[in-house]
Amino acid sequence: MLLPEIEFEPLTAALEATTVVFAGDGGTLSGLAAKLDKASGGQLRRAGEAARFKGKRKQIYEVLAPHALEQVRIIVAGTAGSEPMTRREWADLGGRIAGRIGEVEAASVVVEAAGGAKAETAELAARLAMGAMLRLYTFDKYRSAPPRKDNGNGEPGEKSAETPKLARLKIHVPDPAAARDAFALLEPLARGTMLARDLVNEPANVLGPVEFAERCADLATLGVEIEVLEPEALEKIGMRALLAVAQGSVRPARVVVMTWNGGKSKRARPLCFVGKGVVFDTGGISMKPAAGMEDMKGDMGGAAAVAGLMHALAGRKAPVNAIGIVGLVENMPSGSAQRPGDIVRSLSGQTVEVLNTDAEGRLVLCDLLWYANERYKPRFMINLATLTGAIMVALGKEHAGLFSNDDKLAGELAAAGTATGELVWRMPLSAAYDKLIDSKNADMKNIGGRFGGAITAAQFLKRFVKDTPWAHLDVAGVAMDSTKTDTSQTWASGWGVQLLDALVADHYEKG
Ligand code: BES
Ligand code: MN
Ligand code: ZN
Repeated sequence: MLLPEIEFEPLTAALEATTVVFAGDGGTLSGLAAKLDKASGGQLRRAGEAARFKGKRKQIYEVLAPHALEQVRIIVAGTAGSEPMTRREWADLGGRIAGRIGEVEAASVVVEAAGGAKAETAELAARLAMGAMLRLYTFDKYRSAPPRKDNGNGEPGEKSAETPKLARLKIHVPDPAAARDAFALLEPLARGTMLARDLVNEPANVLGPVEFAERCADLATLGVEIEVLEPEALEKIGMRALLAVAQGSVRPARVVVMTWNGGKSKRARPLCFVGKGVVFDTGGISMKPAAGMEDMKGDMGGAAAVAGLMHALAGRKAPVNAIGIVGLVENMPSGSAQRPGDIVRSLSGQTVEVLNTDAEGRLVLCDLLWYANERYKPRFMINLATLTGAIMVALGKEHAGLFSNDDKLAGELAAAGTATGELVWRMPLSAAYDKLIDSKNADMKNIGGRFGGAITAAQFLKRFVKDTPWAHLDVAGVAMDSTKTDTSQTWASGWGVQLLDALVADHYEKG
């Protein structure tokens, strides 16, 4: 993968042969864009009129070989709408632009007065840069050659022109230093998102629990404290439910605790983020059907988002205390695997009758949630998990399912979802649903009945959180095989990193 070097330049700096400018309502060109138009004898404007360009956002047109300009290609993108463009829309626009110019080696983007004030323009230009980076993320490390594009005649064509070649992206702004500062806080967010994508895209033969833990350990370079718990330690602590899932695999479990103590008071109660990290989910003895099982390499999407978030928080030195905990196991059928009917004692002391070994994520999470709550007394706990197929039946691939015992936290997550585009939709919890997981032989069973599968899974988790504000995000539909967007083009989306970084930044960094 090639990601461009992002450079913030003054408006007076030389423009690359491919240059992008923005237009307002009706296609008005101002500042540097107006100067280019004038130098071309009004060709930019006329081309816009010919293309019926009205300056509306998402409208875009190109002028090739403009008269009397050094540039060989000018791209004009609209920014007008009823409201000024949000930060997220600038990131999306960055993604859309990167999708167009990815095949050239260098390009200029002129962001002259995006938000009026210089500081606002700097921030929005940085958002644009982040969006461009996210768009250009690819997962091609196992390809010997880029895919060939059909040449239109049903024959294999040239090497794909769509393989990104963009090595340098110059963003021209009134105050480059301010834009650089703004981008310094956003680049870690982009890198964290890409870390999450890498972990999810990586096949399970390469990324087992041990290898995942090693990638987490790399965060030490950012100042994250890393603690890796091996099976012996997990046994001693009493995480028997988690270990029961791992026992069928030849690859031993790992739990990684990542600590970022950036808060003013190192002793302030932390925020806790907990991730399901099933590196591969065959279903175990209750085995899944063959078709599509390969997707279960992504069953660690929750853990990947937690690792990505810790990267983002530490990378931008967020003034907050945060703990990331991931439970890394492989769910395999074998002579040592757990059986349907087995009863395990979880760390909490509550016993669980395992009626279906494919409902393994909750067994991993229940021990982690209990552990996090007892050890840290956190301000809140948020867990992310590719927990149920049922959540996709309910919500499709547009929203993650949100379950929470706390209206304030749920509201903050919903707002962060709207701000980042990582949408959540609240689902119900109640005593009536809780009853569905009562067991004849143990304190609870690990599956409910035929209906409400995402809800009974959430009720199960809730039995391990006491009164701590808690939210469970069921990300089965959004972490992988996700809807392609302006800023997300691979199988793995890195879903959750942007959402939780925004949640922390908007509500938990003061005091
Ligand atoms: N990892 C799966 C859920 C999943 C399915 C995620 C498809 C992404 C795509 C989870 O461990 C699982 O198997 N859940 C079962 C629960 C059932 C046995 C109660 C499911 O959803 O079928
Ligand atoms: Mn499963
Ligand atoms: Zn699973």
